[in-house]
Amino acid sequence: MEKSTIGARLLLLNLFVLGFLGQSTVHSLANSSAPDHDFSYMKIVKDATDLPLEDKYDYIVVGGGTAGCPLAATLSASYSVLVLERGSAPTAHPSVLREEGFLSNLMQEDDGKITPAQKFKSEDGVAIVRGRVLGGSSMINAGFYSKADREFFVKSGIKWDMDLVDKAYHWVESTVVFRPNLSRSNWQSIVKEALLEAGVGPNNGFSLDHIKGTKVGGSTFDTHGRRYGAVELLNRGNLKNLRVGIHATVEKIIFSSKESGVSARGVVYIDSNGRSHRAFVRGKGEVILSAGAIGSPQLLLLSGVGPQSYLSSLKIPVVHPQPHTGNFMYDNPRNFINILSPFPLQPSTVKIVGITDHFYIETLSSMPISTTPYSVFPDPAKLTKINSSLGLIAIKLVGPLSYGTLKLQSSSDVRVGPNVRFNYFAHPLDLARCVSGMKKIGELLNTKSLKVFKVQASSSTKAYNFYGPTLPMNQTDDASFGEFCRHTVSTIWHFHGGCLVGKVVDSSLRVMGINALRIVDASTFNFTPGTNPQATLMMLGRYIGIKMLQQRSS
Ligand SMILES: Cc1cc2nc3c(=O)[nH]c(=O)nc-3n(C[C@H](O)[C@H](O)[C@H](O)COP(=O)(O)OP(=O)(O)OC[C@H]3O[C@@H](n4cnc5c(N)ncnc54)[C@H](O)[C@@H]3O)c2cc1C
Ligand SMILES: *[C@@H]1O[C@H](CO)[C@@H](O)[C@H](O)[C@H]1NC(C)=O
Ligand SMILES: *[C@@H]1O[C@H](CO)[C@@H](O)[C@H](O)[C@H]1NC(C)=O
Ligand SMILES: *[C@@H]1O[C@H](CO)[C@@H](O)[C@H](O)[C@H]1NC(C)=O
Ligand SMILES: *[C@@H]1O[C@H](CO)[C@@H](O)[C@H](O)[C@H]1NC(C)=O
Repeated sequence: MEKSTIGARLLLLNLFVLGFLGQSTVHSLANSSAPDHDFSYMKIVKDATDLPLEDKYDYIVVGGGTAGCPLAATLSASYSVLVLERGSAPTAHPSVLREEGFLSNLMQEDDGKITPAQKFKSEDGVAIVRGRVLGGSSMINAGFYSKADREFFVKSGIKWDMDLVDKAYHWVESTVVFRPNLSRSNWQSIVKEALLEAGVGPNNGFSLDHIKGTKVGGSTFDTHGRRYGAVELLNRGNLKNLRVGIHATVEKIIFSSKESGVSARGVVYIDSNGRSHRAFVRGKGEVILSAGAIGSPQLLLLSGVGPQSYLSSLKIPVVHPQPHTGNFMYDNPRNFINILSPFPLQPSTVKIVGITDHFYIETLSSMPISTTPYSVFPDPAKLTKINSSLGLIAIKLVGPLSYGTLKLQSSSDVRVGPNVRFNYFAHPLDLARCVSGMKKIGELLNTKSLKVFKVQASSSTKAYNFYGPTLPMNQTDDASFGEFCRHTVSTIWHFHGGCLVGKVVDSSLRVMGINALRIVDASTFNFTPGTNPQATLMMLGRYIGIKMLQQRSS
């Protein structure tokens, strides 16, 4: 081959790569200069006590969360839609609308109140939270926005129309996604340099795409620290067709049985006075569960769609036997170290990520703290003594391969959360991946960039002032690293599964064996989409909504 041809090819390749990266980053994100949140959606939000005891809609969406809001907004373009959400409106909890509220949201004690972050403990002993507010977990999360990896689109069991996937991501991004300003976080900037120094390259700059190396991702916090969660996507709907009931806790699905089979006809929900309401779907309408990876399998089981002998043992009438409801519950382990900084850190939620084949590295920093949530930095007893900024460096495992099950704690009261077990590290590959991830953190600690956090330990040595777990000293001792992984396991709150595609729902997310019932949320995933799921869950709501509209008009 002639030199000039090679040159031309390289040039073409470069243009292609640049074009590819450019295309996905140049399209418009949300406008950070908006004077305030757009609360238009509040016009259609009603307390469930003010909703009729019986009513009819084309579609009922159970759970006004990350996937539920964009789905409902999309369907409302042509049909009447009722969203039922057990939590309050975000305006009732101003801290969910601000970036600096991130930690305090997670710390709030329930005391019987409807807090936006509902605490629970997995049977593995890990403290977790899930969203309980309009907008769902997107209103309490760390705001990092990054799209799914290619493998997800191959493995997820859904036959994706990639053109529509791109459009649906863009629809989301133009309303709720911002480009972070890294110069406002000394911690994120330093860790980014450390990642590059430790070989997690190349430097991919700012990108929403899943690409190996280190990048700055999108954020649902704007540069003024305002949070834009899935709730803002309700504004993109036809508000005349959309109604949202809050403090509306769905208890079960109502079914009818005909020759054509079992069909979902509506739902029973209770308001804050304990009064029971019924909402029905008309004609070709559907009930859609978007109650999340804990809520959706729980509701299916309570409604009689689950393992036959298990339901019978709880005296729940079996509507449709489904051996896999509540099975295949996954939670990606988070393992981490905390460094107490000798100088003040600007508080930051997740803004950068290091992407490798087997794990992702993410990071947070807090201001000087007196208390911090157990679920973020374990060991609350010591925390009151601390008065310096803290930086956390964590790994999230790809996958994971280990999984467990969800079982009801109450067979009649939906307000009593189910028991969940994830069996962290039951699969040896998960443990091996954690070991290599924590060794990478060991390498990070040896970089020049991170050395600025070392303090004088003795007259001749400098060392990090760790808060909580410290890495094993011997970087080649896999057994100790494995022990470290098991001992310090925590959650990154990306739990998923319980109603998997191919097991409980089909490739269009319809519940198999039942008409007019779909599930659209993280309970359908068998695999983590990219580094963080919210981008793909919001996209999914929009995507399935468009598909449903297309099906009905064809
Ligand atoms: C602390 C934390 C930090 C995170 N950080 C990030 C991050 O930085 N980036 C990222 O991409 N992801 C992050 N995640 C994960 C991400 O937010 C979740 O995976 C995602 O929001 C789940 O979406 P979902 O639609 O499946 O469920 P959800 O958004 O949780 O929605 C479910 C909704 O259903 C409601 N519901 C449940 N049961 C009922 C019922 N019976 N009746 C009525 N309503 C009901 C709930 O109240 C909730 O509003 C984080 C999560 C948490 C908790
Ligand atoms: C962003 O919002 C500001 C203030 O509302 C407005 O002046 C500006 O034109 C908007 N920019 C874009 C690109 O829409
Ligand atoms: C980023 O933040 C810095 C520090 O606050 C500020 O000087 C700079 O103008 C910001 N850049 C952008 C693009 O907003
Ligand atoms: C913690 O540090 C801040 C700022 O450095 C200081 O104002 C405050 O008094 C300190 N509090 C305690 C309990 O030491
Ligand atoms: C480190 O661990 C490896 C593997 O267990 C072992 O062979 C080696 O002797 C250890 N090194 C030290 C200094 O203890």
